[in-house]
Amino acid sequence: MKMKILQLPNPVLREKSKKVDVVDDNIRSVLNDMLETMYDANGVGLAAPQVGLLQRIVVIDIAAKEEEKQPLKMVNPKIVWSSEEKECGSEGCLSIPNQFAPVERSVEVHVEFLDENGTAQKLEAKGFLAVAIQHELDHLDGIIFIDHLSQLRKKMLLKRHEKALKRMALEEE
Ligand code: NI
Repeated sequence: MKMKILQLPNPVLREKSKKVDVVDDNIRSVLNDMLETMYDANGVGLAAPQVGLLQRIVVIDIAAKEEEKQPLKMVNPKIVWSSEEKECGSEGCLSIPNQFAPVERSVEVHVEFLDENGTAQKLEAKGFLAVAIQHELDHLDGIIFIDHLSQLRKKMLLKRHEKALKRMALEEE
């Protein structure tokens, strides 16, 4: 079932998510709904707070459209190592759509998480996948990519987003 994606300035996006106790059918169904929602919005990642659930759950799929799907479902993900080497790449977010800016991230991270069966997994990620993981895990602590930008750039993106929201509201009238 498709879920509604919250956008800034919704305060839920700024809250810290809680750890999941047990990976049960309810969590599995949330994971599937989040993936469906993400694919529908043409996103490469989605974190539970973005659909109003303050739980440490993330889905990611960086496969290109024409490629086979590679869904990654993560419960209680934790970055246990990040490379000192960093790189700047353009990022966007479904919670502040159509706004993009370069963000500096570690080029490699190691992440531990529970899969949809509740089994502990460890993943060593590089490049775009590493970036997506860092971006999505930030969401679980109420951090949005614009928080990594200069105050000036952040204000500019928020202002543009506000204008877009107003425009959409007018179109709906
Ligand atoms: Ni995001």
